[in-house]
Parts: sequence; C-alpha cells; structure tokens
Amino acid sequence: MATPPGRRAKARLPQAGEAPLPFAPTEIARRLLAWYAQAGRALPWRGTRDPYRIWLSEVMLQQTTVEAVIPYYQRFLAVFPDVRRLAAASLDEVIALWAGLGYYSRARNLHAAAQKILARHAGVFPEDLEALLELPGIGRSTAGAILSIAFDRPAPILDGNVRRVLCRLFALQENPRGSAAEKKLWTWAQALTPTDRPHDYAQAIMDLGATLCTPRRPACPRCPLSELCRARALGLSETLPLGRAKKEMPEVLHVALLIERDGAILVRRRPYQGLLGGLWEFPVAEVPAESTPEATAAALAARHGAARARALGAVRHAYSHFRLDLRLYLAEPAATACVAESEECRWVARPALTALALHGAHKKALSLLAPAR
Ligand code: ADE
Repeated sequence: MATPPGRRAKARLPQAGEAPLPFAPTEIARRLLAWYAQAGRALPWRGTRDPYRIWLSEVMLQQTTVEAVIPYYQRFLAVFPDVRRLAAASLDEVIALWAGLGYYSRARNLHAAAQKILARHAGVFPEDLEALLELPGIGRSTAGAILSIAFDRPAPILDGNVRRVLCRLFALQENPRGSAAEKKLWTWAQALTPTDRPHDYAQAIMDLGATLCTPRRPACPRCPLSELCRARALGLSETLPLGRAKKEMPEVLHVALLIERDGAILVRRRPYQGLLGGLWEFPVAEVPAESTPEATAAALAARHGAARARALGAVRHAYSHFRLDLRLYLAEPAATACVAESEECRWVARPALTALALHGAHKKALSLLAPAR
C-alpha cells in the first residue's frame, strides 16, 4: 500500500504487509556506530581492508573466540601473507599452522578456496556475493562480513553474536535455529544494515554481541540499544535467545600408545577426509564397552609390534559432539618386532613432537612425557 501523501513512511520490514520495525533501522545503526567509536576493540584484522586478511580472520573466528584466534592469525599471515602464497602451499603446511585451532575442515576449505581464487579470479578476491558463495567454506554470513568489512558494501551478517543481539532486540520467542526464525533473523539483519558505513557497522554489531550482549549476564545498563530492546522491556534479556535443548555429550574412552624407539615416538597421520583430517596422532583405539583400557592398550601394542604397555596417565578433551577421556600408555618395540614405517606413519624425535601438527588431545598428552633423556 502506498504511503498517504504528507505522512512519512515508517521503516518497514522488507516484505509488504508485515509489521513495521519497532524502531527506525537508522537509529540502531546510529547508536551502534557512536558506541563503537568509543568502545570498539582494537583487533589485529581491524587496521586493514585487505580482503585476504579479512577473509582469514572471519574463517578463523567461525566457532572460535577472538583470544584463541589472534596468535594463529598472526602466525598464519607470517607464513602466508597473501592468497598466492596460500594457494601455492601444500595442504600439510596449512594444516600444521591450524593445528590446535579446531574445526579443521576450515583449513582445507581455505586452501581450496585460495586455489580457486587463483584459477577462476586471477588471484583477485571476488567482490560479489554470488562469487563469494561459490568459494569453499564461505557461507552467507561470512560472505556478508567480507563484503561489508573489506569492501564497505551493505551486506547483512548473521553470525552467533549478531544472532543473539537480534533475538533480544526483537524478543524472538522461538527456537532461533528453526527455519521460520532463520528467515526473520536474516530479514532483520538486512533491514538494520545501513548503506552508510557498513564496514564499521558490521564490526560494531559483532563487538556488541561479544562484549555486552553476551550469552550470560548481558551488560544491559551499558548497552547503547537497551532503550530500544524488546527483550529488556519484557524482562527477557537473560532468557533469550531460547536455548536449544542441551544434548547430553557422550563420553568416549580411547587409549593411545606412545611407542618409543631410540628417543623417537611413533606417530601417524589421520586421513585427510574426516574428523581432524590431516593431523597427526599416536596410535589410538577406542576401548570397547566389554573391554578395559589395559586390555585395549595390550592389544594395540601387540598390533604395533610393541611389548609391555605401561600406564602414563590420562588427558581429557572436549570436542563439539563428544568428550574424550584419553588414557596414555608408554611402550617399547619388542626386540624382534618391526614397526611399520610408511608415508602416514613416522618416528619423530621427542623434541620435534611439540612442533608437529598433533591434534588437541594428543598434543595435551605430550605433557605426560618426561623430558627426553
Ligand atoms: N567475530 C566474527 N568476526 C569478527 C570480527 N571481525 N571482529 C570481532 N569478532 C568477530
């Protein structure tokens, strides 16, 4: 319906016939930008408009905190300062720099995307949404972040932080991962993204989610949006977003074998496809329900031509879908045994183990090894 003459159009959600926004979208951007100017965080990827660096930061920040990302981001750029250097690297080199950061498919996708940027775009980072979405590991929200932060284009973002801010601002009282909610959230994200200063706006709304509009105990009194926030008005700031039903995290029991020969330890590489693909580990086996760690360690030792396995201790590690209880055993190859050495299975001198791309739980296991004699 057309706006009657003489009346200013109210800010509306993009679809015709839907309820108007409860505030002018420009007011949200205005408040966020003013707040960001004095409270925004100085982060290593903020002094640049280089799309390669911004892409790298956004991929690293998927499912990972700023504090954990910073040292990885700096080390990665020291080795691969541009997309050409990354595309020319081996996947092993890339995975080695990612070891410990988790969600390793990100590293594989990053490498594949760099090669695609070289092959399809002559090494120039694409600047449009469709082309970005065709790159491995870039979804709609990461594409929005790259477009707005690197190219100052008004593209919506809906990462975890923005999702929480919008759920509260609009008091979304349904599961935010449902498809209807997802649609609303994208519509709101789009409606609030300003055409003026999208570069700053993107980082402002992400910072608000990370620093004030936090999952627990949000700092509403300090929030620049608190007067406009529906969740706050309804006393629901700590209730929203509605939680997904907490799934019981299964616990998995593994044994790993540290087989030592002349000061070197046997390690093997995990297959590139699959969980923790391409990372290194000690020979490992799951303890079957009907067995014990001791019996599983003895069987594993026998399979690797090792004699006697002595318990060293345990480490625990949390993955996204399960918790791992890892029991470590130290073993020596039997005098007559020949432990297979192949491309995927190597002896690594103890001091070199700390630099090896071991995955998290096995890296932790190194602390159980006494210093090499
Ligand atoms: N989380 C995701 N992207 C981010 C960014 N650019 N700055 C801070 N936190 C983020």
